[in-house]
Amino acid sequence: MGILLSCVIAYLIGSLSFSYLIAKKVKKIDIRQHGSGNAGATNTLRVLGKGPAIAVLALDVLKGIGAVWLGVLLTDTTWAPFLSGIFAIIGHNWPVFFNFRGGKGVATTIGVFATVAFLPSLYAGIIAIILIIITRYVSLGSITFVVLTPPFLVLVGDYPITYAYLAAVVAVLSVWRHRANVSRLFKGTESKIGKK
Ligand code: G3P
Repeated sequence: MGILLSCVIAYLIGSLSFSYLIAKKVKKIDIRQHGSGNAGATNTLRVLGKGPAIAVLALDVLKGIGAVWLGVLLTDTTWAPFLSGIFAIIGHNWPVFFNFRGGKGVATTIGVFATVAFLPSLYAGIIAIILIIITRYVSLGSITFVVLTPPFLVLVGDYPITYAYLAAVVAVLSVWRHRANVSRLFKGTESKIGKK
């Protein structure tokens, strides 16, 4: 019962599309009609600039952290908080409040991974940030982060193997959400940050 409640509330929290809400408030636009069309921090940076993008990033990360802690409070199974976090990512990607058209879940995933497995996600995050700085492709960094966290989970520390499986599910979901970015990366047409 606790798990179900936690996952439902986490999904609703995840469904709060902060990029949509902030873009509506700041510029009276639907962020999904602009830039890459993604309701996320990177597209907020592209369309609205640094300030709003930082706000969206922070709030979306907090959704992931909050969902995991909700799982800690409402359940007593080791993997349930992680599952609760995954439901926040699902809410972010397919938000019930915004016609199920959301983002790619990376910022919320950062919040979830950093809360359940700090060091593995930190190592994956450092590599991802270096890649973003070198290439200026946020999508490449995002994919690297989600794909590297599961193996780091196995290699670093003493985490339950269920964590690695759940992280792998998140990675597959995230790569799938980035399929248009992957195609653009191969074609060399992906947009770079800091470039008009
Ligand atoms: O977190 C999303 C990012 O990896 C890509 O965003 O807007 O370039 O598709 P975008």
